[in-house]
Amino acid sequence: MNDSLTDHLNSVRTLLTDRLAGSADPREVLRAPELKALYDQIRVLEPSERAPFGQAVNSLKVSLEKRVTAIEAERLAADVESLDVTAPWDAGISADKRPTVLTSDHGSVHPLMRELERVIDIFTRMGFQSYESRQLDDDFHMFGSLNFPEGHPARDGYDTFRTTDGLIAPAHTSTMQHRILLEGREKLEVGGQIAAISYGRVFRNEDIDPTHEHTFYQVEGVFVSKAATLGDMLGTLRGFFQTYYGQTLRIKTQPAYFPFVEPGLEFLIEKPASLDGKGGEWLEMLGCGMIHPNVLEQAGIDPMQYRGFAWGGGVDRLVMLKYGIEDVRHFESGKLAFLKEFA
Ligand code: PHE
Repeated sequence: MNDSLTDHLNSVRTLLTDRLAGSADPREVLRAPELKALYDQIRVLEPSERAPFGQAVNSLKVSLEKRVTAIEAERLAADVESLDVTAPWDAGISADKRPTVLTSDHGSVHPLMRELERVIDIFTRMGFQSYESRQLDDDFHMFGSLNFPEGHPARDGYDTFRTTDGLIAPAHTSTMQHRILLEGREKLEVGGQIAAISYGRVFRNEDIDPTHEHTFYQVEGVFVSKAATLGDMLGTLRGFFQTYYGQTLRIKTQPAYFPFVEPGLEFLIEKPASLDGKGGEWLEMLGCGMIHPNVLEQAGIDPMQYRGFAWGGGVDRLVMLKYGIEDVRHFESGKLAFLKEFA
């Protein structure tokens, strides 16, 4: 290729590269008349000049295209204002740039959350303070503080998910018992009582089917005073279920084993007429019992002076019974058809 052709090509290259940098629409430069003129020129060259010149023009075009793509990507990145999704809603975003939020008529409260609110509300009105449970906890709160001895087979009864560094996705809301007892101890010392519930998501590594989910919700209750009795516990639970299902209910208990209560019980209600109960059908609703002396002692509460009761049970089951939902997996499925039934 002769020198004048090379010079010409280089001058067009410099011209178009400069134009690209300053252009509002760099892609437009790929259609520049100067580039088209180079292609037109190929045809009028000596046959021996055509191939090398044609290749040089093509490689110029390819390198311009690459440059355009790079500029477009750079500009796109610069246009997107970075947003700290963990920051409070209005932090650092000027009012006119805040994203618009869909109004609530585009969605509805998830049935589990709506019912959980009702449960919390009933216990709050009975005088219980409420705490949300943690979704990641440690071995001590899951087992040690709850009188599960090291290596005890009862630990295997809870198929816990663990992180690689040994933390646990809690398998029950009882993980909050020790914290509630520690925090409430001072109230006991000034003649008061501990009355708290904890609620939240719990996780179990089990095979899922219509009645078993790996993720579900529980509500736990803890009550401690100088005179708490099993009778108080049964009255509290019956009161709760009667309010929740809106009718008088028969209750019964049967023995059960949980290391953190003694005695341990399963609490049953007679299937309410409002849920198509025909009488004589019993539903297991939760585990409960008198708090084990070792659990009180671990939190610095003298079991000779104070006694308490605790219970814990699934919210999903409560809601399934209330609405005749046949498959627990609907709750976490994100199926719109299911959710719309509760909208
Ligand atoms: N944490 C127990 C469970 O999920 C239930 C329970 C709570 C039993 C409190 C007794 C007292 O299996």
